[in-house]
Amino acid sequence: MTSSRFLLWSMFTAALIITPAIQSAAQQQPKDSVARDVVQVAPADEQGLSEKQLLGKRIFEDRRLSEPEGVACASCHEAKKAFQGDNNSHVQGVASSSRPGVFGDRNVPSLMYAAFVPPFGYIEQKDRKTGEIKIVPAGGLFWDGRAADLQQQVEGPLLNKREMNNPSKAVVVEKIRKGPYADLARKVAGPALDTDDAAFAALAAAVVEFEKTPRFSPFNSKFDAFLQGRETLSPLEQKGFALFKDPEKGNCIACHDGKPESRNPRDWMFTDFTYDILGAPRNRRISDTKVAGYFDPGLCKRPDLLKGAPDDFKPESVCGAFRVPTLRNIAVTSPYMHNGVFAKLRDAVAFYFTRDTNPGRWYARDRKGRTIKFDDLPESWRENANVEEIPYDRKPGEKPRATEAEIDALVAFLQTLTDRPTAP
Ligand code: HEC
Ligand code: HEC
Repeated sequence: MTSSRFLLWSMFTAALIITPAIQSAAQQQPKDSVARDVVQVAPADEQGLSEKQLLGKRIFEDRRLSEPEGVACASCHEAKKAFQGDNNSHVQGVASSSRPGVFGDRNVPSLMYAAFVPPFGYIEQKDRKTGEIKIVPAGGLFWDGRAADLQQQVEGPLLNKREMNNPSKAVVVEKIRKGPYADLARKVAGPALDTDDAAFAALAAAVVEFEKTPRFSPFNSKFDAFLQGRETLSPLEQKGFALFKDPEKGNCIACHDGKPESRNPRDWMFTDFTYDILGAPRNRRISDTKVAGYFDPGLCKRPDLLKGAPDDFKPESVCGAFRVPTLRNIAVTSPYMHNGVFAKLRDAVAFYFTRDTNPGRWYARDRKGRTIKFDDLPESWRENANVEEIPYDRKPGEKPRATEAEIDALVAFLQTLTDRPTAP
């Protein structure tokens, strides 16, 4: 956008004091160069699947498994959108459930590479500044790590009133016993199919087997080919990669982990599975945010949070923390952050650099026109927000750690992380 239009736009938004600043920010950005709709990331076919994996796929795509019928896992996690999907065709950042007018409160994560998320626990981490060893929470499924593993995760959406809304496991199992692929279920689950709990566990295990197939983790992006010496990155992508790794510039690799010395794609998960408090702006499209006191606590409300925690661990210190997501396929998994506040990848990246130098660009203002930095955290949690990690360690008036051109380069690099369809 030219600077004169920018100026007009700034004057316009300055007039709308309580309007969330993010809407104006989104308009200032050039369009992402990747159109989501045309990207086919994972295959929809059934070739090469075992019977158990095939059963998992049938369950995953079965729209009868919601109350009322109509919503399958695949409604929110679509193969062609890196198993992220478009929140079941609803409002940005919010999954819509099987019940009309009932919406979720979080953004749908991509299921690609989810099989690599370790179970929730505490791990040793070297403080990147001081070198001191700290014990920090890591792993677990969902943005707050509340499901120990994929098997436990399956019951979440099936029984969640704001997703598939089944009253019990027994109801789900009965639908499968009577459904079009009952024979396959019988063949895979055997006598377990007759007892509700055992049947549910066996059926969930089939879904997990499906989620572990290579279509969920093909390691087939341009970046993977580059690692293995089969393709080269463009100069812009290379520049972005260098910024991504540079501890004084992007420093993205500090959390979106990879081993610089390794050419093995599996050493590049683009997450260390830990948690951080980034302070993403409030997404006012989420219906819960209409309630003034509503804030998503993230990690601090996780059940069993303290199991295995060090003695001095304070649960309040992780209110507002969410798991570092992988950046694989990030260009096709808009919207971004746990609350889906950003529609554009470039905004998500630019936020890192200007959150502290220009908070007015991102956060809403109060009635007196003052920017409410960290407006999606209640006042008592704001001190939890990470303000020390590079690149989000800037003070007002300081220069952002990347220029607009460098932000473009980072986005270009992130676009190399999109998997290409595996040959059938
Ligand atoms: C109504 C939309 C919706 C449906 C239907 C749905 N999900 Fe999800 N899924 C979500 C949302 C939203 C999250 C994140 C929720 C959270 O973090 O609290 C999620 C998270 C997950 C995760 C965790 C990923 C991660 O990285 O932590 C897995 C795995 C998953 N879903 C699998 C499934 C399976 C299997 C089904 C069907 C049994 C299913 N989902 C049905 C919306 C949906
Ligand atoms: C200190 C850890 C840390 C660093 C450094 C970091 N991130 Fe993140 N990143 C996170 C966490 C945690 C989230 C999830 C935050 C949330 O949802 O509230 C996230 C989310 C994202 C998302 C949205 C992902 C999604 O699926 O919605 C993008 C894009 C992203 N980061 C890119 C970057 C880039 C580019 C850099 C470097 C400029 C970077 N990150 C540096 C921790 C970090």
